[in-house]
Amino acid sequence: MDFLKDAALPQSLEHFHLIVLIAVINSLMFVPFLTFLLGSSVLSNLFDRKGRRENNPSYNKIAKEVIDVALYNKSALTFLGIIPGISLVFVYAQMLQSTDAISVGLAGFGFLSLVIALVLLYTYKYTFRVQGLLDVVEDNKANSDVNDYRRTNTSVHVRSGKWGLFFLFVAAFLYASAMSVTTNPSSWTDIGSIFDVLISADVWLKFLIFLIFSLGITGVGILYFFFAYQGHKPDTDEQLKELVHKITRRFIVISMLVLPTLVLLNVFTLSIDVLSGTIYLLTGLTLLFLFLAAHFLYGYFKQGELKAVGYGFFFFLCAAASLIINDHVMIGNATKEHAALLGLKYEKTTEELKLKLGVAMVVMTGEDIYNAKCSACHVFDQKKVGPPYNETIPKYKGDKAKIIAFVLNPSKINPAYPPMPNQGLKPAEADSIVSYLLSKIAGNTQQK
Ligand code: HEC
Repeated sequence: MDFLKDAALPQSLEHFHLIVLIAVINSLMFVPFLTFLLGSSVLSNLFDRKGRRENNPSYNKIAKEVIDVALYNKSALTFLGIIPGISLVFVYAQMLQSTDAISVGLAGFGFLSLVIALVLLYTYKYTFRVQGLLDVVEDNKANSDVNDYRRTNTSVHVRSGKWGLFFLFVAAFLYASAMSVTTNPSSWTDIGSIFDVLISADVWLKFLIFLIFSLGITGVGILYFFFAYQGHKPDTDEQLKELVHKITRRFIVISMLVLPTLVLLNVFTLSIDVLSGTIYLLTGLTLLFLFLAAHFLYGYFKQGELKAVGYGFFFFLCAAASLIINDHVMIGNATKEHAALLGLKYEKTTEELKLKLGVAMVVMTGEDIYNAKCSACHVFDQKKVGPPYNETIPKYKGDKAKIIAFVLNPSKINPAYPPMPNQGLKPAEADSIVSYLLSKIAGNTQQK
């Protein structure tokens, strides 16, 4: 999938932020969809198999209802699955251009697996219907044509269900690993192949979160669509209702117990440059929403009030949203430096273009910028509003990109100072002021 990365265009810093936003919007649709489909397909396959083994059609009936809810109709599938699924591939390609990160390939193959899985699961869903039709002609037991057809149908049904599930797991794993690699700049270089992906603890943690999340959203979702949602009324008798309750309760309890721990673990394993106040805030919100969801769902299982299911579902989706937004704040923090470099490249390209066209603008030199925008707060050897450059610049050990990233987007560093306001520089300006600072500091140390 490298051709996608090569096709990406250099972009300004504003574009980069826009792309992270597009990634959030796509994920807000895609992740709940994928996890719900995954959980429901597991559930449907399990019930279907149990029904066949114990010769109890009630189980098969639930299996059918569950997959019908998950693959509700084709336009839902397109808008929640296909479109955001493919957009994410392009988003990663644009975001990670000129890095070695393999997220684009992972998401690309994830998308292919997803398409295969959807085709198979659709076959699984429709062979249920055919089976239903054949059951209507049940009386014709002696008719061997019907029996043959029934046998083929069943075998296609079982196989497409099983393989659909397999490819769906592969898709979920690949997407989860693409997200994990993107969030973690050290894995842009450390993870070079699918083998590295398979032995990365970060990737497995992310996938585990996916799976546990999947249990939760499937439990709450099925509960909601089966009992609380007005548009869908499956004809569940008391015994089936009991069964659905039992299984969704189990799903919900497991996910509510495990998910908070995993969410915290995910934050604590982040590298220190990626952490920020917003991340703590969103993590807190996720936990709060999970607690609220658990509270209402507990209420439902205790008292049977249907309204509580709606609230539980709502708060679970809120938890999903804050979890997903948090992931992208992490991506935003992790790609700060990279974004600054891309912005610089973009400005250099446009600058060259303008030069060629004879419309070049005068770019301020580093010294001009220092005098105009920095000297009010900074001098080299004394504390003013901000710290002296002689103290702060050497800390970076010549890592120019890091200083540029700071100047373009200052973060809180030293508690002895107030935070530095953003000076609204363009990446090219930041580049020249930082070059100026570095050369001054180098000159100073030589004189000594
Ligand atoms: C309004 C005052 C103000 C202006 C203007 C200002 N800064 Fe700062 N700067 C600060 C303060 C305050 C800090 C300390 C922030 C902290 O430690 O959280 C700081 C810190 C820094 C640091 C050190 C970061 C570190 O890692 O400790 C650098 C480098 C820096 N500024 C560069 C610049 C440059 C370049 C400009 C001009 C484009 C500039 N600043 C303009 C107030 C200012």
